[in-house]
Amino acid sequence: PTAPDEPSFQQRIDAGIKIEPRDWMPEGYRKTLVRQISQHAHSEIVGQLPEGNWITRAPTLRRKSILLAKVQDEAGHGLYLYSAAETLGAAREDLLTDLHSGRAKYSSIFNYPTLSWADIGAIGWLVDGSAIINQIPLCRCSYGPYARAMVRVCKEEAFHQRQGFDIMLTLCRGTPEQRSMAQDALDRWWWPSVMMHGPRDEDSVNSAQSMQWKIKLHSNDELRQKFIDQTVPQAEFLGLTIPDPGLKWNAERQHYDYGEPNWQEFWNVIKGGGPCNRERLRARVKAYEDGAWVRAAALAHAEKRAKRQP
Ligand code: 3HC
Repeated sequence: PTAPDEPSFQQRIDAGIKIEPRDWMPEGYRKTLVRQISQHAHSEIVGQLPEGNWITRAPTLRRKSILLAKVQDEAGHGLYLYSAAETLGAAREDLLTDLHSGRAKYSSIFNYPTLSWADIGAIGWLVDGSAIINQIPLCRCSYGPYARAMVRVCKEEAFHQRQGFDIMLTLCRGTPEQRSMAQDALDRWWWPSVMMHGPRDEDSVNSAQSMQWKIKLHSNDELRQKFIDQTVPQAEFLGLTIPDPGLKWNAERQHYDYGEPNWQEFWNVIKGGGPCNRERLRARVKAYEDGAWVRAAALAHAEKRAKRQP
């Protein structure tokens, strides 16, 4: 590894040279990457739960198979990202213990219930739409394994967002009841999706350092604004109304002005007080415990194979 000193490390970052697992890196760089990558992985794994609720209730076989493929993709994204975290010396067991104990975070957005089939459309359209906006820049972040994992993840996210929008379009072109289902889902998922991009920049404790280390290439508010600017015309095309009376095109800024999110709700959800937090962690702990025999069998098999190796 290069000489352990920050200036040459920062010069590498500024020169756009990828940092690889065996390179020297400041402990803070390693720590914030483990924090962000593991919480990203947790989000992918927990993110399967809201949608999983509708796999057995999908309206057609085609929608069911698409949703199955999407949920399976999310599982893969999570495992990919846990592997990226392990390249930094993090032990997967520890990361999972932190999730199950409530110590680690995962995206606030997954603590809301999926009350109708239209929610599956809104999640693909809004949540995966937000995820793409957040993850495309991560393909260019300074840590090699994370950046490379994101390239594959973003390709699959594009399909996730398109299938969600297709569900919304089908409902909006359907009966009045279907149109009102789509509007109800937008009403419930709009603000949690706006807040998913994180706190205001001035309240973002990690942004300054993460931007200096090119882990974060755009600020929370920049990506939030990009999400809103991209999504408003799509809602208009669907014939849906975004539940924000403060939403207005600002010709001077060339962006939409928007109302103030409910930050008290945001922090409450992050602290575990959201509608589904307890249910989500209970489901993850149960899945982990029910899967203990699979892990034990895989380890026993690996040990037997290792003994057989000449
Ligand atoms: N939910 C939960 N916690 C959040 C959050 C959210 N939506 N937004 C911010 N936070 C937390 C941060 O983790 C941080 O707490 P910590 O220091 O204990 O980790 C605190 O709030 C302050 O926020 P910061 O802005 O200072 O934190 P970051 O610099 O880490 O920025 C982030 C937050 C933009 C989410 C950044 O971590 C990031 O880009 N992460 C990678 C992408 C990601 O995790 N996306 C989550 C969704 S994954 C997904 O949608 C998959 C798709 O397939 C559905």
